Amino acid sequence: MGEAATARAPEFTGMTAGERHWLLRRLHSISGIIPIGGFLLFHLFENGYVVRGAAAWWSETAFTRGLPFEIVIEAVILWIPILYHMIYGLVIIATSAPNNAGYAYERNLQYTLQRVTGILALIFILFHFFTTRGWFYMTGRETNYAVMHAYMMDPVIFAIYIIGTLACVYHLTNGIFTFTITWGLVGGPRSQSLVNRLCNALFVVLAIVSVVILISFRAPV
Ligand code: HEM
Repeated sequence: MGEAATARAPEFTGMTAGERHWLLRRLHSISGIIPIGGFLLFHLFENGYVVRGAAAWWSETAFTRGLPFEIVIEAVILWIPILYHMIYGLVIIATSAPNNAGYAYERNLQYTLQRVTGILALIFILFHFFTTRGWFYMTGRETNYAVMHAYMMDPVIFAIYIIGTLACVYHLTNGIFTFTITWGLVGGPRSQSLVNRLCNALFVVLAIVSVVILISFRAPV
């Protein structure tokens, strides 16, 4: 038999552990931006209408409450990516080595804060979901202005919202910076430091916006 007849197509032996890790890590990274990060920005934007009063907030947020196939859209666009990001995020936290060599103090602090805010975001997102949307699915009670107002007037819940929202916003803005590094989008220490500063500035802006939104819910109806 000739060589051509005996030659076999290369067998697909599956991914190596390294390749699998690479793929899961990239999926984790992209899911933090699209859809989770995009949703967080949209969520702040739609709730920002509360600064114009209870009625404006309720009518401007009607769109998301009235979507057809709402549960399916929420699950596919939001909950599946968030669950994946949370679970793989916990794996990264549990298995990664401390980042204490070769980096400036600021980068080390950011590395730690990214992990701490990830855990805080996890706790807050579960709390926020079950006390708003989850409660609605279980009991049919709408999370209207009166409900949000009562939450924000409770000092413990208000503090949870302030800490949880700031954690999410820090995690996203610092995450945009680390995303550009994960994907090799910004080369060179000077450009990296510029992007880092822009992301820090974005954190300050979004932090102020978030706190203003939460305080605005304290206005009487
Ligand atoms: C508000 C919801 C969240 C958003 C918008 C978000 C967004 C992001 C973004 C954009 C990144 C950067 C990806 C990269 O460096 O390539 C990231 C990284 C990360 N996230 Fe999240 N995330 C959220 C919630 C969570 C939760 C609940 C956890 C669970 C603990 C988590 C754990 C992590 C971890 C461990 C990293 C990797 C940091 C690193 O490699 O240095 N995230 N996230």
